[in-house]
Amino acid sequence: MTQRVAILISGGGSNMVSLVEDMQGDHPARPVLVVSNVADAGGLEKARSRGIATACVDHTAFGANRSAFEARLSEVLEAAKPDVICLAGFMRVLSAPFVTRWQGKLLNIHPSLLPKYKGLNTHARALAAGDSEAGCSVHEVTAELDGGRVLGQARVPILPDDTPEKLAQRVLAQEHVLYPKILRRVAIGDRSRLDLP
Ligand code: GRF
Repeated sequence: MTQRVAILISGGGSNMVSLVEDMQGDHPARPVLVVSNVADAGGLEKARSRGIATACVDHTAFGANRSAFEARLSEVLEAAKPDVICLAGFMRVLSAPFVTRWQGKLLNIHPSLLPKYKGLNTHARALAAGDSEAGCSVHEVTAELDGGRVLGQARVPILPDDTPEKLAQRVLAQEHVLYPKILRRVAIGDRSRLDLP
């Protein structure tokens, strides 16, 4: 049974593209919807040009009413009947009721070696700490920000002349490798941990 995958984005959608481009041939899953909370997110056009249904649930239209935003987001998702929902550069914190509603289906990719550096500005923090390596993590989404079970990680060395921008680029390249690998495993029910060399 082909798994139905919805992908949530907020920006350029490079992780979404990597996931979509991997979901071909004998892959056990297919993309069914790309949703952005940002109306002019570049990723929406990338999805459309690949023939994938898109939707926008603009969080600014709901003001401070997070539950109303999430209720609309759930409505849009329910119509797509997703088996897996991949957060891919999605920049909204999701509340406990939303996570409970979609329990077990939500994955996220975070640009740090969790549990280090939950939240934002991960690369600057790793550089400021003098770390020798950085990386990215795919994890199950829970109500705790970037706190769910880690399903896989990829590591990159931190180089002497690194800036947050240079490091971000190097980590992003590994995100594009790791996330599709983890999604393939999750799509066949394998949630064992996969750490890339
Ligand atoms: C990047 O900073 C990436 O590290 C994180 O989300 C941001 C945008 O990613 N996962 P994308 O290009 O929109 O997938």
